[in-house]
Amino acid sequence: MTSARKTFDLVVVANRLPVDKQLDEDGNVDWQRSPGGLVTAMESVMRANPGAWVGWSGDAGEAPAPFYEDGMHLRPVGLNAEEIRDFYEGFSNDTLWPIYHDVIVPASFHREWWAAYERVNRRFAEAVAVEAAPGARVWVQDYQLQLVPALVRELRPDVRIGWFNHIPWPPVELFAQLPWRARILEGLLGADFLGFQRQSDARNFVRACRQLLGLKTKGDRVALADGSGRRIRAAAIPISIDYMGLEALAKRPDVMERAKEIRESLGDPKVLMLGVDRLDYTKGIRHRLKAYEELLHERHIGPPDVTLVQVATPSRERVEAYRYLREEVEQTVGRINGELGQIGAPAVHYLHHSYPREEMAALFQAADVMLVTPLRDGMNLVAKEYVTCRHDLGGALVLSEFTGAWHELHQAFTCNPHDIEGLKQTMLRAISTPTRDKQRIMRALRRRVADHDVQRWARRYLAALDAAPDLPAPDPRGPSAAAPVAPPESAPLAPNATGPADGEPVTASTSVSE
Ligand code: ADP
Ligand code: G6P
Repeated sequence: MTSARKTFDLVVVANRLPVDKQLDEDGNVDWQRSPGGLVTAMESVMRANPGAWVGWSGDAGEAPAPFYEDGMHLRPVGLNAEEIRDFYEGFSNDTLWPIYHDVIVPASFHREWWAAYERVNRRFAEAVAVEAAPGARVWVQDYQLQLVPALVRELRPDVRIGWFNHIPWPPVELFAQLPWRARILEGLLGADFLGFQRQSDARNFVRACRQLLGLKTKGDRVALADGSGRRIRAAAIPISIDYMGLEALAKRPDVMERAKEIRESLGDPKVLMLGVDRLDYTKGIRHRLKAYEELLHERHIGPPDVTLVQVATPSRERVEAYRYLREEVEQTVGRINGELGQIGAPAVHYLHHSYPREEMAALFQAADVMLVTPLRDGMNLVAKEYVTCRHDLGGALVLSEFTGAWHELHQAFTCNPHDIEGLKQTMLRAISTPTRDKQRIMRALRRRVADHDVQRWARRYLAALDAAPDLPAPDPRGPSAAAPVAPPESAPLAPNATGPADGEPVTASTSVSE
């Protein structure tokens, strides 16, 4: 049997494959790891749960043939140059991304972008329909593919469909701006179970269904009004990282040696501060640099005793807001170094590259203060990776309260990145707090991540998907004639009244039952 004929009991579908097709100087194909937290998390999930991964290969043109990588069956979906512009850069990252991240930059609305979004979502759904075995679990990822659940249901009423949103879900007042809001909600309601990072995200979604579609909701369930009797559950299951795998990497002697080397090559500063982000306006890089620059001007800190390494992975470089951000960040770094650096001791080391996992683990170990200051972030895996790498209990995590991670790691040095004065004080506190206290905090943070790793996340997600209402037997008249009937509730309702208020720490047990 050829690999194209084999079907899979688990099919993950994400905009990107875990690997990104690049061409080297001689025009040879070179597959590199795709950027972002989604791939970091899902790659380790798929290593433990074999299946197929449907996604875009990262370049323009025909889809390459399906292939195997690390035991995963990868099925590429092709996008042409126009679709990359309209579906990926346009609707996904210049319409949805800003709306879902509090409109930190304005969102653009173009009808041709929406048309491309619909067309490409259908292509992903068709690829899923080919890969899924009868009764398979189909796990749709993120904001780029919100129409896929309903499209897969149309094509394959026999499969069970889940969707997980890696980014925030906006308040209804922002979501309502989208001219295609009803179509997006209907697309998602094709799923059996919808997962979110925070409980407030799930609640925003349920509220949008009530207010914008007029559907009845109860607790975390939305009842469809199509006569099917289906009730869709929307609940928080915060994502995580492969704690054991990363900790083992960080304990490798070569990685620990590399951490020392990094410090030495930076002139052995007393305090090494670190930022690691995709170069994205949601990450609060400008706010972080502003606070740092002011601390230098006010002579609270300065090189060579204190230095900052900012790793900023290239991202979405053809979208205007990202180009503008890069210019601003690079100008700021140049100004800080020009005014406040010394010969052989720059105040900021700015690195616009991707690095292997070993190098990232070494950087995390080398850093005394990790600056995670997003204005809005679904989770932020970097925060969890930092504490995982600190098996020596060293270091301090400065963490924005606007990240999903903060809801689990609120013992960290919490900051509001909009409050520059407050951020400065938090950075100074992270430096000056006695080592013993910092070790106590680090121990607590590490315990939380160790107990809530990505494998546990995947188990909880798939259990919630399996517990979602069953589908009816396939209708002999064909897929579109099928009218699913909901069985009795299989999991308890989570009444809104008992959930924590927005902004309060959410523990896993308040978000979804296991
Ligand atoms: P996002 O998904 O928005 O990019 P996350 O913090 O959740 O943000 O995930 C980012 C992931 O990318 C992490 O696993 C992090 O280690 C990785 N990463 C970030 N910058 C780099 C880089 N320069 N090189 C390699 N990996 C990186
Ligand atoms: C975030 C999103 C992912 C996305 C990643 C990288 O993690 O949630 O869906 O893949 O950023 O962004 P990119 O646009 O390069 O895929």
